[in-house]
Amino acid sequence: MKQWSDLDDFQSFIDTGGMVEPVDDMPDEYRNEVFRFIEFHANSELMGGLTERDWIPRAPGLRLKQIFLAKTQDEIGHAHLLYMVAADMGVKNRTEMLEDLYDGRSRFHNVFHYQAVTWADQIAIAYLVDAAALASQRSVFANCTYGPYKRVLKRIVAEEGFHMRHGEEMLLRLAEGTDIQRQMFQEALNRWWLPSVQLFGPDSPENDPLLRWKIKTERNEDLRHAYVQQYVPLLQGYGFEIPDPDLRQVDGQWLIGDIDWEPLKATMRNGGPDSRRRIETAANNWADTAWVRESLAAAVDRTQREAAA
Ligand SMILES: [Fe+2]
Ligand SMILES: [Fe+2]
Repeated sequence: MKQWSDLDDFQSFIDTGGMVEPVDDMPDEYRNEVFRFIEFHANSELMGGLTERDWIPRAPGLRLKQIFLAKTQDEIGHAHLLYMVAADMGVKNRTEMLEDLYDGRSRFHNVFHYQAVTWADQIAIAYLVDAAALASQRSVFANCTYGPYKRVLKRIVAEEGFHMRHGEEMLLRLAEGTDIQRQMFQEALNRWWLPSVQLFGPDSPENDPLLRWKIKTERNEDLRHAYVQQYVPLLQGYGFEIPDPDLRQVDGQWLIGDIDWEPLKATMRNGGPDSRRRIETAANNWADTAWVRESLAAAVDRTQREAAA
């Protein structure tokens, strides 16, 4: 077990490439901040997985249904791994985290607070949102100082890469499709462009502890800027229009218009257009599956009693 005399000592450990493990006597500030970050990530994976599940019956054709089934399993698996990592930090256990989510006391990514209206929305989410999530997860994975988080991110980032590629394949089908298909995607892009650039969050505060402790390696505004450089030309290349009247190019760099962060703040407090329904669906799903947990608990109980007898 590693121990540090004070926060400065801990900071120099981090600055010289140190890794923190659950058994270490980490400072409370680090424990709480990292826990909050991983809990937020876990909640987002779970809410994202439930969104994928919603689209299994509506996905056109057996092949896409199979793919959405696999994606749902991936996302729920990501949530499962992350809740385990978060619970090991000893701040809240898994049930407490889930109850906080279902009672609307904790937070999850902005993109899961809006309604996906058409199949093209689902494609926009798979392409744009998964790409944005992947960019931010990659930057965490690159240099993360909390060992268990870095280890599970390796698998998560690999699977998200597949999701994004699949999103791209679906987007290309629409881009090369009929006028109606192209129009459907343009309308979806109009709805999902802003949420995806907002996914990175407002500019990082000065002295952001997550940056200082190398949980995150890049500032939010830098990640957003890099994303815009990559996706504006791609989408324009496929013949779509970026829904931002202030989008411009300065010295070869794409710049987007100013973002009004106020609506996002309300959304993040679970006051988004679809927040209530989504939280309710997740809570109902948890309640509907209580019998599985009860049966398992009873089986474990019986095995332990038999072993003790
Ligand atoms: Fe995921
Ligand atoms: Fe994903």
